[in-house]
Amino acid sequence: MANLQGKVALVTGAASGNGRGMAVRFAEDGADVVIADIDEPGMEETARLVRQQERRALVRRCDVSSKADVDALISAATSEFGRLDIAVANAGVVESETDCLRMTEEQWARTIGINLTGVFFTLQAAANAMIEQGRGGRLIAIASIMAEWGSAGAPAYCASKGGVKQLVKSFAQAVGHLGITCNAIGPGFITTQMTRGMRDNPAVERMLIDRTPVGYIGDPVDVAAVAAFVAGDDARFVNGTIIFPDGGITAGNYSGAMREAREAAQ
Ligand SMILES: NC(=O)c1ccc[n+]([C@@H]2O[C@H](COP(=O)([O-])OP(=O)(O)OC[C@H]3O[C@@H](n4cnc5c(N)ncnc54)[C@H](O)[C@@H]3O)[C@@H](O)[C@H]2O)c1
Repeated sequence: MANLQGKVALVTGAASGNGRGMAVRFAEDGADVVIADIDEPGMEETARLVRQQERRALVRRCDVSSKADVDALISAATSEFGRLDIAVANAGVVESETDCLRMTEEQWARTIGINLTGVFFTLQAAANAMIEQGRGGRLIAIASIMAEWGSAGAPAYCASKGGVKQLVKSFAQAVGHLGITCNAIGPGFITTQMTRGMRDNPAVERMLIDRTPVGYIGDPVDVAAVAAFVAGDDARFVNGTIIFPDGGITAGNYSGAMREAREAAQ
């Protein structure tokens, strides 16, 4: 386990799914946790799980697409806990019931505003707080395997995640010399609210499992394990990159389709 004893970690989108998984893992590893989201009951449950680890939890409502909200969140974190060592820009949404040709300006702006602009606001405010305190730090942004792929039905999601993958490279250059690293994590298919629609359809769930070389859909603990490594001291030389906890699905997505075509032809 990474040793995060005495550190303070902030996670946006921490009311559920991957965000909750990372908040709890950071607490297990010894960090106090700042929990930010727009879902207040969900945040309270995450706080309960953090406190169960005998760590302090600060719950703060924050819409990451608002710069004022994000700046207030970072100020609250540093004034409440006196330091900020790890910041994870995790909050995200995916558009549905649309596609490249029908997407409205509002649908595009919502996904980009939360998934890309929200990540920028979070990384920027956290980076400035870390620079001011002069102890280095860890900036982490949650991208996706969709940073590598396209999807006719989720063009803003894919564009936002590709943007996050690029954005961390710029922050890595801006703050690396100050002992602050900035990396992205690109999960594959993980069991959360976001993928519920896919998993509720047995044929789609089977297809996802078949196309994932390890043979199962991931769990938030799989994302949290990578986050714990990147957040820890052992990862001091990891900067400006993306790590994919994806069961190998991006290693050769065509191979599952090839196998299915061969089986169908037999
Ligand atoms: N589940 C997957 O398979 C998967 C794969 C790759 C990447 N991701 C990424 O993981 C991150 C977390 O998603 P998840 O799968 O845990 O889904 P989730 O829906 O369980 O969690 C998303 C969280 O973000 C919060 N949120 C939404 N809009 C917000 C806003 N404007 N401000 C603050 N919080 C907001 C939601 O309330 C929710 O708690 C996202 O960035 C998502 O794109 C998920």
